[in-house]
Amino acid sequence: MAKTKIEFVCRECGASHYQWAGQCLECEAWNTLEEIVVSQVTSSRPESLKDLPASKVQNLSEISTENKTRLTTGLSELDRTLGGGLVDGSVVLIGGDPGIGKSTLILQALAAINRSNVTLYVSGEESAEQVSERSIRLGIKADILFISETHLEKILKILKEVQPKVIVIDSIQTMVTDLSTSAPGSVSQVRDCAAQLTQYTKQTHTILILIGHVTKGGALAGPRILEHMVDTVLYFEGDAGGRYRVIRAVKNRYGAVNEISVFAMSGKGLQQVSNPSSIFLSNQKTPSPGSMVMVVREATRPLLIEIQALVDQANGPAKRVSVGLDQNRLSLQLAILHKHGGIATFDQDVFANVVGGVRVMETSSDLALIAAIISSLRNRPLEEHLVIFGEVGLAGEVRPVPNGQERLKEAVKHGFKKAIVPKGNLPSKPIDGLEMHGVSRLQEMINLL
Ligand code: TYD
Ligand code: MG
Repeated sequence: MAKTKIEFVCRECGASHYQWAGQCLECEAWNTLEEIVVSQVTSSRPESLKDLPASKVQNLSEISTENKTRLTTGLSELDRTLGGGLVDGSVVLIGGDPGIGKSTLILQALAAINRSNVTLYVSGEESAEQVSERSIRLGIKADILFISETHLEKILKILKEVQPKVIVIDSIQTMVTDLSTSAPGSVSQVRDCAAQLTQYTKQTHTILILIGHVTKGGALAGPRILEHMVDTVLYFEGDAGGRYRVIRAVKNRYGAVNEISVFAMSGKGLQQVSNPSSIFLSNQKTPSPGSMVMVVREATRPLLIEIQALVDQANGPAKRVSVGLDQNRLSLQLAILHKHGGIATFDQDVFANVVGGVRVMETSSDLALIAAIISSLRNRPLEEHLVIFGEVGLAGEVRPVPNGQERLKEAVKHGFKKAIVPKGNLPSKPIDGLEMHGVSRLQEMINLL
């Protein structure tokens, strides 16, 4: 018998540690380490997976990928985020806060999948009546097979009988396997269940969609512990309170990462928003201080997004708060603004917010953020129909960002008339209806404002 080895795994991020600690060394979350037994998992193959066909040795150059067609979900926005649809033998993880619309999205996608593919929805949370009630509300009449079950060995048995092409597990945190003795939702249960299902999917060339709750309380293991096991990871961004839902691909073995798609939650489920730029801009007629429009590019599509800053006299230690932006990036830009722009904010509270609940990962937001901060500090609105983008470096230089021309075209399409951009992003030919200013130093932009 294999010697048992013990490890401590973080419930939030999945990092493993050799000894217990109060705080995870990776994600710095408190009290999230959980003891798991490692060699039990790796020592032998679970009984339920033993009779699957063994993998055969192949020559890489002789493998044809032509028949690797993608299965479209009928939701073109979701397909785009997946990189063009669902790939055979792939595992997709969809994570998000409870109540944000994961089950709704997947049910809608399953309903639109070509009916020559058998689809099975496994729910560990809801009964058949509840899911059927939802599908009636969504106006779905498609044949989707359903079971309400949490015992993994039983599910694997059913999979062998029914042989579905697409399998949905809602949610992976409710599943339990005989391989692990820990409580449902614990790290080892979630990992062992996901590992067995993944193995089944790879060997039968089916498609597996795992739904995982992002947890704040920390009672359940979060979906991040599964990220390394699956092919594609999609996360719902923002909170369940708003009308819009942004889904981002944070890992994709079959497409671009950071690709986002936007949906609106309505009485009839999630509706696709095919022109998201329009919803991230607040429809204000007159510009207000501290508000600025930038063009960011998430994966393959440029997006116009409004960024807001509020600078106010600090009462005590100065606060720096950012929503939708990296907090370190905000502090960095404030330091650059002081050193190279001569504008001090050390006695001011600075708040920055990206409108619409979307998270901006790109550095092209730097220049627009600084413009918004200056505008709020001076309490003077920026020009109407002005758009700004560009990265600002620690030396006060403005650096070009990828795909400048594409961003400028998107701005013109939405009626913007003036743009301040890095000099390196100025196109060789003028763009009709757009007045362009190239800057190479931060100071040049401040002078233009
Ligand atoms: P759900 O898909 O159950 O969330 P999750 O699986 O991520 O926990 O979505 C639940 C929320 O969506 C719930 O608050 C109600 C809302 N909703 C609508 O507004 N319209 C609809 O048509 C549906 C089905 C749900
Ligand atoms: Mg659900």
